[in-house]
Amino acid sequence: MKIRIFDSREECLVAGAWAFIRYALNNPEGTIGLCTGSTTGPIHEMVADIYRKYPFDVSRLHTVNADEFLTPKGSPVTLTMRTTMKKDLFDALGIDEERGMLPDSTAEDGDAEALRYEERIKAVGGVGLQMLGVGPDAHLGFCLAGTSFDSVCHKRAVSPAIEEIIVNKYKFDRSMGPFYGITMGLKTFMQGKEMLPIVCGASKAEAAEKAIFGPVTEEVPASILQLHPNCTWYMDREAAAGIIGRVNPDG
Ligand code: GLP
Repeated sequence: MKIRIFDSREECLVAGAWAFIRYALNNPEGTIGLCTGSTTGPIHEMVADIYRKYPFDVSRLHTVNADEFLTPKGSPVTLTMRTTMKKDLFDALGIDEERGMLPDSTAEDGDAEALRYEERIKAVGGVGLQMLGVGPDAHLGFCLAGTSFDSVCHKRAVSPAIEEIIVNKYKFDRSMGPFYGITMGLKTFMQGKEMLPIVCGASKAEAAEKAIFGPVTEEVPASILQLHPNCTWYMDREAAAGIIGRVNPDG
């Protein structure tokens, strides 16, 4: 495992954006795994900004999002992360629904859709670069503590923290819950050829320390990354508070 510690959140996110672009340039037919969230969102916006100024070939690139909501039955509007992905990245790069893959948030049978998503990922040759946001409790996608390391794409109830996002950001009435989503499993993530977890801010310090130096345990989902042969953490100094001095900061 490699670790790169950046002086500021901005520098860390810029490096994340260039990791996306570097991969796309070197692998024009490749597949990048993406996440929504306050860490990866700004990275997508930076990629879009750079692309607008200096377009590069993304005409054959695929992207695969880590997770997606399932729209509650009877909802007049769709609950989906695609809107955010389109606004931040897909529209700028001209990535359509076929190449910008997310599970179908309107699927009636979430379990079947999860299996179909796993197959779609395989059909595009699997993920080359897996960019990962990490939750403050070290979750990946919707894979919370206790998720099996053997898990593939699956449907699950969202966490209380995600429910708050659904209610506050997506303006869904709490009474429409319980809310469910589809997430890549931990085994699915680990099949990516290159892993790039990105963490910024003090709220991620404990999770990062546990994931990097703690035991590899299903109680800390991101600890599974210790087992990956090609994983580089990008972190700012705040997120790295618990590990500074114990690692080579330049990877
Ligand atoms: C959520 C999302 C994940 C994301 C994580 C970190 O749980 N489902 O895909 O990576 O949060 O988000 P943030 O960067 O906002 O902390």
